[in-house]
Amino acid sequence: AEDGYDLWLRYHLLAPEQAKLYRDHATEIIIGSATPTQIVTRDELQRGLHGLLGNTLPLSDTVTHDGAIIVGTSASSPLIAKLQLDTQSIGNEGYVIRSVVLDGHTATAIVGRSDIGALYGAFHFLRLLQTGQPIDHLDLHESPRITLRVLDHWDYLNGQVERGYAGTSIWDWWKLPDWRAPRYTDYARANASIGINGTVLNDVVSGATILTPVYLEKVAALADVFRPYGIRVYLSVRFSAPIEIGGLKTADPLDPQVQAWWRAKADEIYKLIPDFGGFLVKADSEGQPGPKDYHRTHADGANMFADVLAPHGGVVMWRTFVYSQASADDRAKQAYEEFKPLDGQFHANVLLQTKNGPIDFQPREPFHPLFGAMPKTPLMMEFEITKEYLGFATHLVYLGPLYEEVLSSDTMVRGKGSTVAKVIDGSLEGHTLSGMAGDANIGTDRNWCGSDFNQANWYVFGRLAWNPTLSSRTIAEEWVRMTFTNNEAFVKPVVDMMMGSREAAVDYMTPLGLLHLMGPGHHYGPAPWDASESEADWRPVYYHRADHLGIGFDRTSNGSNAVAQYAPPIAAQFNDVKQTPERFLLYFHHVPWDYRMRSGQTLWYELVAHYTRGVDDVKQMQETWRHLDGYIDEERYQQVAAFLAIQEKEAQWWRDACIAYFQSISGLPLPPGYAPPQ
Ligand code: GCU
Repeated sequence: AEDGYDLWLRYHLLAPEQAKLYRDHATEIIIGSATPTQIVTRDELQRGLHGLLGNTLPLSDTVTHDGAIIVGTSASSPLIAKLQLDTQSIGNEGYVIRSVVLDGHTATAIVGRSDIGALYGAFHFLRLLQTGQPIDHLDLHESPRITLRVLDHWDYLNGQVERGYAGTSIWDWWKLPDWRAPRYTDYARANASIGINGTVLNDVVSGATILTPVYLEKVAALADVFRPYGIRVYLSVRFSAPIEIGGLKTADPLDPQVQAWWRAKADEIYKLIPDFGGFLVKADSEGQPGPKDYHRTHADGANMFADVLAPHGGVVMWRTFVYSQASADDRAKQAYEEFKPLDGQFHANVLLQTKNGPIDFQPREPFHPLFGAMPKTPLMMEFEITKEYLGFATHLVYLGPLYEEVLSSDTMVRGKGSTVAKVIDGSLEGHTLSGMAGDANIGTDRNWCGSDFNQANWYVFGRLAWNPTLSSRTIAEEWVRMTFTNNEAFVKPVVDMMMGSREAAVDYMTPLGLLHLMGPGHHYGPAPWDASESEADWRPVYYHRADHLGIGFDRTSNGSNAVAQYAPPIAAQFNDVKQTPERFLLYFHHVPWDYRMRSGQTLWYELVAHYTRGVDDVKQMQETWRHLDGYIDEERYQQVAAFLAIQEKEAQWWRDACIAYFQSISGLPLPPGYAPPQ
C-alpha cells in the first residue's frame, strides 16, 4: 500500500522508455566499502537503481563496460585519483558528477572530497533519474552554501511533540539505546538526500533529564545511527540544569562552579559522542531560565556554553526568540532591542538563531530586523516546517514561497542586494560559520509528516538550506516528480497548486499584513475577537487593533516605531503608508476602513475580497485535484482529496468568522454580492 512512508525516496520503476535510456549509463557500480559511509552510499545506489531501473547492478572493481558508475574520493579510489578532477572549489561536503571516459569506457564519476560529499552526490544522481533528467553529458559541481543545516525537533522525552501534528516523537527513548529502530536509518537517509547535516533531538523548552548519563547513552546510540549519513546530533539544554541535576545552588554563567559543571558535562558528552554538534538554547523567553535571572547578558550565557564546547569543535545556537510580556510596547521590537547592542560580544562558535519574522511564524511577516543588523555575529535562520499557524496536518500549504520570500528580502544594510540569504549564508559579512534550522514536522505517522504534501515542506527546507537562492518552484517540481509521478499532465497543475497554496492561506487567515488572529493556545482556528487577559500580548486584539475607525498596528514613527529597526531605506518605505507593500499594510499601519487601496477599492471591501479569494483558491485546488484522479495511487489520492475538503470547510470558517467579527467593529455593510454564510 502507498502510505507515504518512502517520502521522496520512492524509487519506483520508471516508464519503460526512460528506464531503457538510463540503463545504458548504469551498467555497474564501482565503489569502496571501507567506511560506513561508503557502505550506505553503495546500498542507496543499489536500492535506488534497482527500484528505478528494475535490474540489480553488479559491483565491480574495474571498469569493464560502458556505463559504469564510479563513486568515491581520490583518497579512497585509485580510479578516481586517475581522473584528476578539480575538486578544490567544492569544499568538504560538495561533489562533482561528471561524464568521463575511463580505461576506454564511458562512465559517470560521482566524486567528493569526503565520503559524505560522495554520498550527497549519489543522492543527486538518483534524483536526476527520479526526475527524468538526461544523464549522458553531466558536469555538475555542487556544494552547500550554509554550514549547519539542521532540523530542530520539538520533541519531549515523554513522546509528545510540541506543535507536532504527525503523531508522537519518533525517538523511542524507552527502548533506546538497545533498540535502534530501522526508522532512524530511514530518517537519516531522507535527511542526507537533501543535505541536512544536523538534528536537535529535543524541544527548546526542555528539562535537564536529557543531560543525565542514562539519556546521554540513548543520544549516543542515535548519533551512531546518523553518523554514516553525515548527520550530527545536538541537544537543547536547560539553562538551570546545574541546579536541577548538578546539585548547585546557582546557574549563574559567571560562577566558576557553574562553568566547571558545564565543562565536565561537555567532556562527558564528547566522550560518548566525539562528533557531537553542540547546544541549542532558549533562555529568558516565555518563562525559561536564563542569564537574566543572574543579571547577566545573553552574551554571558552563550559564551559560557561556547567556551566549554569550543575545545571539542561544538557550537552554540542561541535563540533570539526572547519574548516576555511586560517588556515592550511592541513585541515585534524585543529581540532587536535585546540583541543588537551585544553585537561583537559573542564568542566565535556562537550563532544567534533567529526566526524568519519578528513575531512568530505567521502565514506572512516581514523579515526579522535582526538580519543584517548584527554584522559581527553569525545569524542563523529558524524556519518553522511544522504548520503551527497554517492549518496543522490537513491544510495543503507549501511553505517554499514563504521561505523564498524571506530569503530573497533585501535588508539593504550594505546597499541593494543585501538579501537575507546573504546574511545567513555568511557571504555578506564574511562569516564562515552559518546555519539554517527548521522546526521539524516529523512524527510517528506512517507518512512522517501528517500529510503527503507536508513532506514537501521538509524537502524544501533542506534544499534551501543547501542553497538559499534556489527557486521554490523548481524545488516543488523536483519533489512532485520524486514523490508522485513524472507525468507532465500531473506535474504542472500540482506544482501550480502548491505554489499558490501559501497565498491562499494568507488570504483566508490573515490577509494584508494582519497576523495572529488564531485562537490563543491551539493556534488553529480563527479567534480575532479573543481579548482574554492571560498572556495579554498573545491576544489577537493586541495584533489587529481594529476599532470603529480602522484596523492595523501602527509601527511607524507615530506608533511603536518598530520600522526604525530596519535599514534607513527600508524603514522609510515601511514608515510611509503609500510605499508599504499592501501585503504588509496592516502590520505597519493603522488604516481607516475607507482607506483607498491601490485597486481603488476601500480597505474594508478589499479585506473581504481577500478572504473570499482565499476560499475560492481552495475550491480551485479541489477542482485541480479532481481532474487528477488516476494519475497516482488511490490511497494517497483519496487522502489528499479528503484533506482538501477539510481545508475548504475551514477556509470558509476563517473567512466567515473574521468578516463577521470585523464587521461588528467597522459597522460597515458587506460588499454587494458577498454571500454571507448560510
Ligand atoms: C511559539 C510556539 C511555542 C514554541 C515557541 C518557541 O510560541 O507556539 O510552542 O515553544 O514558539 O519557538 O520557543
